[in-house]
This record gives sequence, C-alpha cells and structure tokens, in this order.
Amino acid sequence: MAPAPMAPTPPTPPATGPSATSRRSRYPAGALAFPHRGLLGIGELETHEILYLLDEAEQWVALNRRPAKHVDVLAGLTIINAFFENSTRTLLSFEIAGKRLGADVVNMHAAQSSVKKGETLIDTAMTLNAMRADAIVIRHGSSGAVRLIADKVDCPVINAGDGQHEHPTQALLDALALRHALRARGREELNGLLVTICGDVRHSRVARSNILCLQALGAIVRVCAPPSLMPAGIERMGVAPTFDFDAALAGAEVVMMLRLQSERMEGQFVPSEREFRRLYGLTPERLERAAPGVIVMHPGPMNRGVEIDSTVADLAGGPHEARSIITDQVEMGVAIRMACLEVLTRRVRGVPGWGGDNAAQSGARWA
Ligand code: NCD
Repeated sequence: MAPAPMAPTPPTPPATGPSATSRRSRYPAGALAFPHRGLLGIGELETHEILYLLDEAEQWVALNRRPAKHVDVLAGLTIINAFFENSTRTLLSFEIAGKRLGADVVNMHAAQSSVKKGETLIDTAMTLNAMRADAIVIRHGSSGAVRLIADKVDCPVINAGDGQHEHPTQALLDALALRHALRARGREELNGLLVTICGDVRHSRVARSNILCLQALGAIVRVCAPPSLMPAGIERMGVAPTFDFDAALAGAEVVMMLRLQSERMEGQFVPSEREFRRLYGLTPERLERAAPGVIVMHPGPMNRGVEIDSTVADLAGGPHEARSIITDQVEMGVAIRMACLEVLTRRVRGVPGWGGDNAAQSGARWA
C-alpha cells in the first residue's frame, strides 16, 4: 500500500512555545514516540507520550481556527463512534474530529442498537470488527468494558469514558487547554502548578484521568469532596484529599469543578443540591480564596447553581486575571481527538516508521 501522506505541516505555528521542529525532535523516532495500539487510559502512558499527543494536537488547534477546517489525512478510513451511554459534547467532538480529518464517521447509539435486544458486548465487538472499522471510539457505563472490546477487535480503540474508570481524551484536552492558558501568561509548562479538583470525585472518570495526567506533567493535585463522594484510598494516587472546600481552594492556581453524577449514584450521597452548593459550590466569594489569576475549569455538562455559579463559569478575565477556560476546553477537545485519531491510524495508513513490520524492527512494542 502506498504510504498515505503525513499530517500537513502546521499552517501557522503556535503563537508561543517551541517551534514544531524542536518539539518533534524531543521524541523518539517513528512509532517509538507513541507505541500503543489504542488509547485506553492515561494510566498506561509515559509522560513523554502524553506530551507527544499534546504537541501533535497543536497543528489541529491551528487548523480548527482557520475558515477551511478540512484535510484528507484519513480519507477512505471508517471510524465508528460506539456510544453505549448518553453524550453530547464528547460524541460531537469525536465526530467533528474524524470528519475534519477526512474520514467516514459513523455513530452507533446504544439506544438504537442490538445491545437493547440483549446482544453481549463481545458480539457487538465482533460485529463492529467485521465491518472493518479503522478505529473505534467507545463510551460505556461499565469500567473495563472498553478494554474488553479492544481485546477483541483488530483496529485501534479509543476510550471515550468507561464507567468510573478513565476518560483519557478529557484529561488530555484539559492539559492542552491549561497549557494554552499558562503560555498566554508566559509560563511554559504545568510543573509545580497547584490544581484543586472538587465535586463528585467518587463517580468521576474525569477526576481519575486528570489526577494521573496532571501529576505526570508535574502538577500538584488536591482533591475535595464531601466524605460520601471521596473514594476510599484516593491518597494512594498521590493526591491530598480534603473535605473542606475553603482549605482546598487556598492558593489554588487552577480549580476544576466536577458534576454531581446522580445517574451513577445508588442511594443518597448528598442531603440536597442546596446543601451541596452551600458547602462545595464554587461561588465568586469562594473563588477569592484561590490564587490571584486563578483558572476555572469544568468538563461539562455543568449544573449551574449547584457545583458552579454562572458568574464563575462565565468569568471572562484577561490572561492575568481570574478566568474560566471552560469553552477553551471544548475547543481543545476537537484538536486532541484529531491528534489521537491521526496518530493511532498511522499504522493502517502505512506512514513510514509506523507500519507493523517497520515498527517491530524499530523496537516499538504495541501495548
Ligand atoms: C464527563 C463524562 O462523561 O465523564 N463529561 C464529558 O465527557 N464531557 C463528565 C460528566 O459527565 O460529568
């Protein structure tokens, strides 16, 4: 097969930060830069592999800011988005990412699928495989379900959220959005950054993936939740847990709020939303406790007036003032998903240095 063209050179280099050439020369050559068949969790990535995906995404941030946002890099490939759980922004983000790269994108919604007729997950996986997808993006309500499918299919699988386990592209897009916000302030990386994650940590795959990703990038992470929503043993992940939101906010340079995931709760975890807001809602007054110029984040969907007040969620400060980067997170989501799809399909596209045999010869292991 003739090698498909590599991703185009960035139309415009990022406004700040190292040039594309110096960024690329930081990484091992070819598939050694990202020697994984799919993306199942941040927990299986090395720090340099996380940075590689972030750097690869920069060219797509630039493309997405142009009026014409389409390339043919994945032309002819089929990507299936198999979503066994409801989603608006993640599904849309993956769909836009695949289409902007020129792939044929098909969405499978569980509500309309044979899963409702009792088909097993393995049978669904075999069906998707028989349709010869070139990449499958999966969201599923059970932790570990995505790995189960990934083990049964021949193409790369991307985890778009599995139960309370991981949501790797969310953590990557959060890191990219943060990096952009920091660079606008003349700070190059996340090293030493004090980040507070607050809300329903117990049910959050976003919290888990973010703790792993932020720590890999050198940030210091505090987590805050009511006792009923703090997972037991969380300190084993190297984070400082606290039940006191005011203490958790003191000096925080970044505050990441999480939604109360009522759909995952069996029984009553908080007395009422009103009580939750009183103790753990991010209000303008509370935000005063954080470091000057604090950055506010939320993966969405937000419950305005519960975990976050509207004035905080929409805080449009200048680069050095306190500001919300929630819409930047959504923007970076498309670029990160484009990077993941482009990198993970290099093997099937026969990109030099990324093909099966070449990769084996060059020592890459497909994890
Ligand atoms: C998160 C999810 O689905 O895990 N949302 C998202 O991906 N945008 C967080 C949430 O549902 O609260």
